Amino acid sequence: MSAAVVAATQPDRAGAGEPVIEIDGLRTAFGQHVVHENLSLTVRRGEILTIVGGSGTGKTVLLRQILGLTAPAAGSIRVFGQGPRSGNARQRFALRQRWGVLFQSGALFSALSVFDNVALPLRELRSLPESVVRDVVTTRLSLVGLTGDDANKAPADLSGGMVKRVALARALALDPELVFLDEPTAGLDPTRSDEFVTLIRRLHRQLGFTVVMITHDLDTLFALSERVAVLAEKKVIVCDTVEAVLDFDHPFIKTFFLGERGQRARELNAAREQEHPDDGKP
Ligand SMILES: Nc1ncnc2c1ncn2[C@@H]1O[C@H](COP(=O)(O)OP(=O)(O)OP(=O)(O)O)[C@@H](O)[C@H]1O
Ligand SMILES: [Mg+2]
Repeated sequence: MSAAVVAATQPDRAGAGEPVIEIDGLRTAFGQHVVHENLSLTVRRGEILTIVGGSGTGKTVLLRQILGLTAPAAGSIRVFGQGPRSGNARQRFALRQRWGVLFQSGALFSALSVFDNVALPLRELRSLPESVVRDVVTTRLSLVGLTGDDANKAPADLSGGMVKRVALARALALDPELVFLDEPTAGLDPTRSDEFVTLIRRLHRQLGFTVVMITHDLDTLFALSERVAVLAEKKVIVCDTVEAVLDFDHPFIKTFFLGERGQRARELNAAREQEHPDDGKP
């Protein structure tokens, strides 16, 4: 089923299917090193879009540009119709409140407790009383399966899976319309990885946000993606349903999806869908 059809069948999502991110003609270069050339991509409201590409093809850099952290050499990026580096400070701040980010490393502040890490985006608003901050942090932590005990821990005392959960709780702190996940399951064992996928799927269903995910993990990709954008040759060579991408003839796609690893992931995914036919993609 195409993402547009999936979105259209979810009447509770206002504006489902309309573009929330529009990237056109993007060029990125670090000195002589050109990372993106004429890259275009559209992300639609409510979908889960996965970006794949070889290591060093510029997935994280692309994410940083969408977030306005890095300026492109050329081309345009619009998020909710606004350039992430354009407008005044107030407009940029308002735009940032509409998304949540789980960075590749987790990027928790090591000097802050779990509680204070999740509270950070709320406190940045400078308008919420501490009692509200406390309520929201507690709710977000329980949403991702963490307890009040965990809230007092330091990031150094967490397992890899817990770091991802805390980072996700922080990404969700402001009830974002758009969630970015950079390698959310990297470094997790298969059980933790499956739990994370189930969690994202449930939250996506409940909260209806748009997800842009970067992953090398095929199990995660097959379980969650409504569309997949493939980054190769400095641009998005195809952006379509998993099935259509698998049919797209390109050496990277063959290696990435159709090797032994891909075969195993697709078999597991088919078996899982047979076991749980109603627990399919969001
Ligand atoms: N600030 C920077 N200065 C110079 N080069 C950079 C900078 N940031 C990224 N790069 C280069 O841009 C390229 C893309 O990096 P990026 O981190 O986006 O890759 P990626 O696709 O996310 O890889 P991975 O799958 O390993 O996470 C790499 O060659 C990297 O060395
Ligand atoms: Mg990366």
